[in-house]
Amino acid sequence: MGDAVAVFPSALPTHRSNDTEHEYRQDSDFFFLSGFEEPHSVFVLAPAHPVTKSILFLRRRDSERERWDGPRTGVEGAGPRYEVDAAYGIEELDERLPELLATSDKLYYAFADNEAFNHRIVRELKRYHDERARTDRGPIAVADPSSIIHELRVKKSPEDVAALRRAVRISGEGHMAAMRYSRPGMYEYEIEAIVEYTFARLGAQAVAYPSIVAGGPNATILHYNKNREAVPDGSLVLIDAGAEADYFCGDITRTWPISGKFSAEQQAVYEVVLEAQRRAIAMCRPGTRVSRTVELKGTNGKVNGTFHAAAVKAVVEGLLDLGLLSGSFEENIERQLYHRFFMHGTGHWLGMDTHDVGSYRADGDWRPLEPGMVVTVEPGIYIPQDSSVDERFRGIGIRIEDDVLITENGCDVLSADTPKTIAEIEALIAQGRAGATPLIA
Ligand code: GLY
Ligand code: MN
Ligand code: MN
Repeated sequence: MGDAVAVFPSALPTHRSNDTEHEYRQDSDFFFLSGFEEPHSVFVLAPAHPVTKSILFLRRRDSERERWDGPRTGVEGAGPRYEVDAAYGIEELDERLPELLATSDKLYYAFADNEAFNHRIVRELKRYHDERARTDRGPIAVADPSSIIHELRVKKSPEDVAALRRAVRISGEGHMAAMRYSRPGMYEYEIEAIVEYTFARLGAQAVAYPSIVAGGPNATILHYNKNREAVPDGSLVLIDAGAEADYFCGDITRTWPISGKFSAEQQAVYEVVLEAQRRAIAMCRPGTRVSRTVELKGTNGKVNGTFHAAAVKAVVEGLLDLGLLSGSFEENIERQLYHRFFMHGTGHWLGMDTHDVGSYRADGDWRPLEPGMVVTVEPGIYIPQDSSVDERFRGIGIRIEDDVLITENGCDVLSADTPKTIAEIEALIAQGRAGATPLIA
């Protein structure tokens, strides 16, 4: 960022209902840069300032408020703990921000949802604009710092990987608890409780996103998270749930039979998704591009070498074998006929945000995977309850999602301990049912 000045406001608290806010979660970029978790704070980087190059504005200590809301770091605690050159009360921002902005003619600021803060920045820019002829000070260029910060976040440091491993391990334990302790007749919310109890018990601070616990045909609704229904007898339950631990997110999906045994049709579709995922994970290595387009090259069934294309190819082959798609392989690819059953991408960056930041493109093309990047690999097949499809398969929804670290030579599946073959899943459910005590009686 050279000698620019950069200003980052903390995440806004968000209203839930009267007198009640959603649990506060710091903005990921703000936390990545400052390590500071409290709301009503602003982090400034001013490398051209002679003394204070990193500054944190934060709430002062207030014994009365702290009795209600808990301890604050306060100005005295911030310098040593967060390694900033200066810490000031947030009420000093109006007074001090102009001087900090004047240290450079370039300001990095991301105009975003924080309208009040956007206005504050615009007000300062206008003041400098009006006074420029006499002062020759202040920013004349404003740039969004997001792409610079997000590029720093897209390749994970060894510390990031350690935190991610922990989040993914806890996430996997939640899925395994659900397999062990669920029973036929349970409601989706009861299984959700098993998953999220396990996350919390193992130290996760939050769920990374609202857990999806979808029984039977609810699994064909991609963002189903009401989780209010009983899991129908004989059906599959799709759980897409991840724990957040120390600002890193797990994102795992498993799909399994509430009875403990896959039916022949469930098994047939499951094996297609599993094979698609296996082939996509085999593509996870440095150099593979993250393209979401599927290009057919030639007419011999070869598609471009991306992990999404590998998954799509396997899904199309499998759906043709099952008779759920008809016609030629090429036609299904070229006309995207598989979208009826597989309508989302095969993965996304994973990190401090579940759909982590960072560009998927570089130099005018989809970018290649590099060591340190982390992607999810999550193909799925969702068969509508539609009279035009074979009745035996209607309402089956299956997704299998793992979290994959790209390494020098290939990849490391961080969620590999969470069972996903049919034999492993059925064995774990059977083991859970052989135990006498359900987790929550
Ligand atoms: N759980 C969100 C996703 O899989 O992308
Ligand atoms: Mn995902
Ligand atoms: Mn997911």
